[in-house]
Amino acid sequence: MQEQLINDTSEAFRSVFQSEPERIFLAPGRINIIGEHVDYSDGFVLPAAIDKHICFAVKKTDDSETCTFFAKDFNESFSFNVNEKQSPVSQTWVNYLLGVFNAIQESGKEIGGLQIAFSSTIPMGSGLSSSAALECGFAYILNELFNLHLTKKDLALIGQKSEHTFVGVKCGIMDQFSSVFGKEHQVIMLDCNSLEHQYFEANLDGYSLVLFDSCVKHTHLTSGYNDRRKDVEHGKNILWKKFPEVQKFRDFTLEMLDEVKAEMGETSYKRCKYLLKEIKRVEEAAKALSAGNAEYLGKLLVETHAGLSTEFEVSCEELDFMVEETLKQNGVLGARMMGGGFGGCSINLIRNENVAEVIENITAEYKAAFGIEMKVYRVKISDGINEYKRNEFVI
Ligand code: GLA
Repeated sequence: MQEQLINDTSEAFRSVFQSEPERIFLAPGRINIIGEHVDYSDGFVLPAAIDKHICFAVKKTDDSETCTFFAKDFNESFSFNVNEKQSPVSQTWVNYLLGVFNAIQESGKEIGGLQIAFSSTIPMGSGLSSSAALECGFAYILNELFNLHLTKKDLALIGQKSEHTFVGVKCGIMDQFSSVFGKEHQVIMLDCNSLEHQYFEANLDGYSLVLFDSCVKHTHLTSGYNDRRKDVEHGKNILWKKFPEVQKFRDFTLEMLDEVKAEMGETSYKRCKYLLKEIKRVEEAAKALSAGNAEYLGKLLVETHAGLSTEFEVSCEELDFMVEETLKQNGVLGARMMGGGFGGCSINLIRNENVAEVIENITAEYKAAFGIEMKVYRVKISDGINEYKRNEFVI
């Protein structure tokens, strides 16, 4: 599948730019085992990069002014002058890239002309972070081609900044961090406050993490994502007014939250309550994962879904149905919606020998209930953004 993507993207480059691409880069999407919406609230998250990618075929040009993109999946091109200041445009996919360029330009770094064709196997709007792969993939390419001396952390932050400034989604750092820092077979335990992180092997012998795509698409520009952030900011302000000595959001207790409930209002109270509980769950889940305690991990996933659905209110009818029905199946230890929500995928922890049967049953039930053919992704935990070198792979 990766070979196919690389060949198709290279072919698109040849036909649009009438020459051979010089270099190929792959930027992955991500899963998140647990820790949802806590990446902008001092929480921990447990994501991993996956074997679904955006592939970029790239060539530096002699013309030092023009950067041209060809988005194969949209069959659209866009060019801009690298010596001029850029502003957001009407095509959303372009803004992810222009925002990256803008952040690099603002930091005083210079880039020259280049041509890029790209194409993706990360489904868009499914909660697998195709946006972060696009932003960070481009930042990585600029860093490599123009020797910008940016660190991996810089690349992740530039991707996030692009999304804040040019796209308008006030996302956290989890998606960009995973796309840049992913490692094969390793889950990342990321402290979103300090960006300290550690890797560990997900020890889930006998069980699989399988994604079910509800095929309900979202874009966080309109989904309610930014509203959730506002609810949370309001809650945090009230908590800090009352308890100024507390350093980090995650250090507030549920008792403190209860004390300011009336002043905070029901909505922000529910959002903050979910977040404080979720942050604790991630710490528990990390322990469960390294101890190979799949049963306990499954229980935590179920609690997370309940919180996302009723307290944080970012699920939807289709995802709630899917999760509820999945949990009734034999061999299922846990299930929950994954990512920003309002559609996209669920992540399911299923005993290996039951996977086929669960997929068959849920596909049929989901189709019967909503008339939608769900998609299933059995992803592998993979490396972060890297350059593809053909001779390094045995084909
Ligand atoms: C989206 C955002 C992330 C994170 C998740 C929810 O994917 O881009 O920063 O907030 O939603 O966990």
